Amino acid sequence: MCKATLKTITCKAAVLRGVGEPLKVEEIQVDPPKASEVRIKMLCASLCHTDVLCCNGLPIPLFPRIPGHEGVGMVESVGEGVTEVKEGDIVMPTYIGECGKCDNCRSGKSNLCHTYPLPFNGVMPDGTSRMSTSDGTRIYHHFTCSTWSEYIVIGANYVVKVDPRIPLPHASFMSCGYSTGFGSTWREVLVHKGSTVAVLGLGAVGLGVIEGARTQEAARIIGVDINEKKRALGEVFGMTDFINPSKDSDKRVSEFVNELTGGLGVDYCFECTGVPSLLNEAIESSKVGIGSAVLIGAGTETSGQINFIPLLCGRTLKGSIYGGIRTKSDLPIIFDKCLNKELHLEELLTHEVSLDEINKALKVMKQPDCVKVIIKY
Ligand SMILES: NC(=O)c1ccc[n+]([C@@H]2O[C@H](COP(=O)([O-])OP(=O)(O)OC[C@H]3O[C@@H](n4cnc5c(N)ncnc54)[C@H](O)[C@@H]3O)[C@@H](O)[C@H]2O)c1
Ligand SMILES: [Zn+2]
Ligand SMILES: [Zn+2]
Repeated sequence: MCKATLKTITCKAAVLRGVGEPLKVEEIQVDPPKASEVRIKMLCASLCHTDVLCCNGLPIPLFPRIPGHEGVGMVESVGEGVTEVKEGDIVMPTYIGECGKCDNCRSGKSNLCHTYPLPFNGVMPDGTSRMSTSDGTRIYHHFTCSTWSEYIVIGANYVVKVDPRIPLPHASFMSCGYSTGFGSTWREVLVHKGSTVAVLGLGAVGLGVIEGARTQEAARIIGVDINEKKRALGEVFGMTDFINPSKDSDKRVSEFVNELTGGLGVDYCFECTGVPSLLNEAIESSKVGIGSAVLIGAGTETSGQINFIPLLCGRTLKGSIYGGIRTKSDLPIIFDKCLNKELHLEELLTHEVSLDEINKALKVMKQPDCVKVIIKY
């Protein structure tokens, strides 16, 4: 399409107007992409627990705003200078870019690119938004994207091509939660063959950790969840032991894990619940001297206190955004595994809604049988 003919699109999106308010599905205007930007027609999106935090105004209460950061779509149009993708390509909007040139990219040790960072301020890099309500009020983006909208505009450096053979819901799951867990087992720590692993919280993130640990040939993978239904699901992904701490409320999670491991704890413990008190449990579930705890869960409280002595005893604590996955270098590796049917992405899909049913989807997420809800456009 000739760039001069690109027009504003009117479409439907789920708009959030205040902390904890229900989303309102309404008509919005989506501007044409500017230079180095891409406009995407969303084909499928999904809900990550971090979207719930956004609906509660975290980390920054910006309104009106369109949440959603998981999804997959088709390039509708591109702005000047975009060469990486073209109209009609199936793509995944990502919230971290990879320039390959900054200090962090060149280190090979981090996915947190300085050139294309994870934005929290709800606007494009030029400080403006590409979306507005019908009365002309600008709408804030969620991270780089706002996937609960029929159309989005995103920087071309935050877009990754997806093989059209990958089922859309699977691609959507790989755009945040699942890949965060899966990637953290080889990008944040290197889970080694024969090692012991504990995973606190078996949502899409925790199940991704289990799958990653199995792929890395860990000998023992202990899943911890207060939802008994996660026992059978965890086993599908490769969990070898399950702890339901709510069955003995006097015991700490780390006591359960230490009991199962001859008092030693595990080599790697992943916190994937977002419950602040479980960070200390993750640290104390890992081995003195050589154990690592990886913090993935994004809690709602900022006042969690770390117990000093257990951390001083030679354990390592690593925080993780998107499992350390580099969007250009590592996502293709996960896509290949998906195409080779090595991953259990289909097992994550439990519910499907239309965009109009977005508030129902947020309620469904609280049901014990729910893992992932997709929005079909
Ligand atoms: N760091 C990142 O880049 C990143 C990416 C995606 C998600 N997250 C965060 O990771 C966390 C998990 O996301 P998700 O989508 O898998 O969420 P989810 O709600 O689907 O899964 C959380 C699981 O934890 C379990 N749980 C809750 N309280 C527990 C407790 N006290 N003890 C044991 N288990 C408990 C729940 O039963 C549930 O199975 C969230 O906090 C989310 O915001 C972080
Ligand atoms: Zn970079
Ligand atoms: Zn997410």
